[in-house]
Amino acid sequence: MKDLIDISDLRVDEIDELIETTKNIMENKEQYSQAMKGKILATLFYEPSTRTRLSFSSAMMYLGGNVIGFSDASTSSVSKGESLRDTIRIVSSYSDIIALRSPIEGAALAAADVCDIPVINAGDGQHAHPTQTLADLATIKLEAGRLNGLTIGICGDLKYGRTTHSLLAALSRYNGNKFVLISPKELKMPATAINKHLNENNITYIETDDLNESLPELDILYMTRIQQERFDDKAEYEKLKNSYILTADMLKNAKKDMLILHPLPRVNEISVEVDEDDRAMYFKQARYGRLIRMALILKLLGKKNTSETQSPINFTPTDKYICTNPKCVVNSEKGVLGYVIHDPKELLPLCAYCEKPTMKK
Ligand code: NCD
Repeated sequence: MKDLIDISDLRVDEIDELIETTKNIMENKEQYSQAMKGKILATLFYEPSTRTRLSFSSAMMYLGGNVIGFSDASTSSVSKGESLRDTIRIVSSYSDIIALRSPIEGAALAAADVCDIPVINAGDGQHAHPTQTLADLATIKLEAGRLNGLTIGICGDLKYGRTTHSLLAALSRYNGNKFVLISPKELKMPATAINKHLNENNITYIETDDLNESLPELDILYMTRIQQERFDDKAEYEKLKNSYILTADMLKNAKKDMLILHPLPRVNEISVEVDEDDRAMYFKQARYGRLIRMALILKLLGKKNTSETQSPINFTPTDKYICTNPKCVVNSEKGVLGYVIHDPKELLPLCAYCEKPTMKK
């Protein structure tokens, strides 16, 4: 495996191994302090970030490496009109590994295509966020003791929330998990994700808009922010922004050992009084995020990166179909070839970059 673009680039045993390394790093911090000496991580962030960018930088520094990059594209040549892929070509000759965040869906995959060094997807628009999922999985495994046989409630903005898409993709690969997808009807999990991860694998799930009613059966509650910046219609955001607010009072009906996760930032979907509850994991989760990013950097740049597979997805170049998503990299960057994933369950193939439906030319 050269890059981490999608959580499915990692086999389940590789995810488990990353969590083991995370544990080992926590217990033997000193042993890792020079592991990336002389190596450079480039963090290229075209979208706001606190945790992801700083935890990547801090992860590389705790490994003895160095960090370059930008957190505001207006200070880079992007503001002069440079394309993403030209920027990547240049930065790949100044660094050993790239963490890229972009509002464009499929940006990380398009970037990985044009350089030889590992590219990590640190969030591509509303599509995916695999390293947040690694932090989520480490939290669940190390705090609940298992990643299987769980009833997982994912609540909030399941349409635009990229962390929820990657989390569903990952947890649906562990045995015996059930999902309760809690959202307003306007912000439901995309049908393509439900088909691919749940229906095709006969996994039990329900879709509901009722958090209170769902709470008692959950082992994990994954709360998310309504993604203001992804709405084309601001009035729609105003209507939906307070859809869920988890309070201490509501938690009286939840299991005593239920874990509450949130990728953060929180706006108002979890009341601050919940922070005092032992079940609140979100600040710990951010700490695991830095540790598992250390494990990931070690894997991608270390000798142990022996996996042959890049992705189980079968890409086929095409000029017959076009991607219907205006926010996809295929439609925003010149020269990115249209590739499709042939999914027999879909009427038309999906775009390999953003996993949205395509249409015939
Ligand atoms: C998330 C993101 O950027 O998608 N944040 C993060 O990386 N921890 C979630 C969010 O912004 O709501």
